[in-house]
Amino acid sequence: MSPMLAFPDAALAHAVSAFETTAAALESIAGDFSAQIAQGLAGAGGSLKMLRTFTSQPTGRESGRVVVVDWGGTKGRAGIVELGGAGAARLVAEEVFTFSEEQKRGAVAPVFDVVAAAIGRVVDAQPTGAYPLGFVYSFPARLEGINRAVALALTKGWRVAGLEGQDVAALLGDALRRRGLERVRVSAVANDTVATLILQSYRSRGAGGRPADIGLILGTGTNQAADLGPAGIRNLESGNFDGVTAVETPYDVALDREQREPRPGAQRLEKMVSGHYLGEILRRVVYDLSQRRAGLRGAAHSAFATPFAVESEHLSRIAADRSNGLDDVDALLRELGATSTREERQGVRALSGAIVGRSARLVAATLLGTLRVLDPVLADRRTIAVDGSLWGGYPGFASLVAGTLVELIGRERADRIEIVFVKDSTSTGAAVIAAVAAAQGSARSSSG
Ligand code: GLC
Repeated sequence: MSPMLAFPDAALAHAVSAFETTAAALESIAGDFSAQIAQGLAGAGGSLKMLRTFTSQPTGRESGRVVVVDWGGTKGRAGIVELGGAGAARLVAEEVFTFSEEQKRGAVAPVFDVVAAAIGRVVDAQPTGAYPLGFVYSFPARLEGINRAVALALTKGWRVAGLEGQDVAALLGDALRRRGLERVRVSAVANDTVATLILQSYRSRGAGGRPADIGLILGTGTNQAADLGPAGIRNLESGNFDGVTAVETPYDVALDREQREPRPGAQRLEKMVSGHYLGEILRRVVYDLSQRRAGLRGAAHSAFATPFAVESEHLSRIAADRSNGLDDVDALLRELGATSTREERQGVRALSGAIVGRSARLVAATLLGTLRVLDPVLADRRTIAVDGSLWGGYPGFASLVAGTLVELIGRERADRIEIVFVKDSTSTGAAVIAAVAAAQGSARSSSG
């Protein structure tokens, strides 16, 4: 028989309340976030990198065929996107590629060869001729031009030896040559947050609307990009925001200290908010509570004893179970190796909801931090474009964020902030960025 999960009630209630965040705490986080944006822009350090992107808002009329690559996790995609102008785009072909755990911790060239092979599979089937390529590289990179991006330390559990300090566009170009794909030229590199922002702007402007102000990803990792007017569109690398100590629990502190990648102290917001970590936080709490009950060997022999064995998809499943007996939570816990009583399932559900609730509230506070830099009194309409598996997959996540904004700034101001879910935005966004780069390039050569 599988071991039982059981928690002492007071300990459970205490753990749930540890994940609660007051409006005052969130206000102060929003203030710190705004201050660190200013600090980062001034080059005065701080935890927000405010990286340049070398792209500008699209007109909505961009057109043409572009090869795209989307890499920022275990699974990536290569494809061909046809931009039709007037905000229209169509994915013509797509190939998925997957990295093994060894590759994620291995050498540089094999990783880029996996990407180039997938590009080959889509491009080989296309008519001859040269193609521009838009490369979504969803890790921190310091751009020195639209097609020059120097890799910074990796995130989300990746550690490719020797990548840091190298230009990822050049590395992809080398891999394309090794694969005999000289007709494909890497013409733009962008972060996924930038691709989401730009795609929303392309669609909206194509239909006569206004561009997006912020791009947010909430998936395996989390990050924001924002159009900061004179400072241009910046990749904040907001997952690295460190002003979270007021709302951290001992579980967060331990998780941060015990990971080698990203190193302790790095990606503090991401470690409390994004899909890569939410399951792990729940696992740690459940395991700890089970251990504290005398005589319960329980979770010691279930997935709750194995780091990263509980995933954010599990938390989505827990939230989606509306049955009285929490039957699907029961099934899930059995899959994870533990039997449970109904009370215990309610406990797991309460904890899971509290952990995700804190994530949504932190996301709202940090968005507010950015919005106030754009517009201190929040007088104008603003658009936030969002993509990512946690946002799209966790039931009610968007409402949790919207509700927190109302709590923090009132309904009238919150109503001026439009949050648009732009599903599968990154590849198509990359195509628009490459097209914008091509237009900028030809504008430069005709004026110079
Ligand atoms: C991580 C990466 C960042 C990316 C985010 C979402 O935070 O460092 O570049 O935008 O994940 O994928």
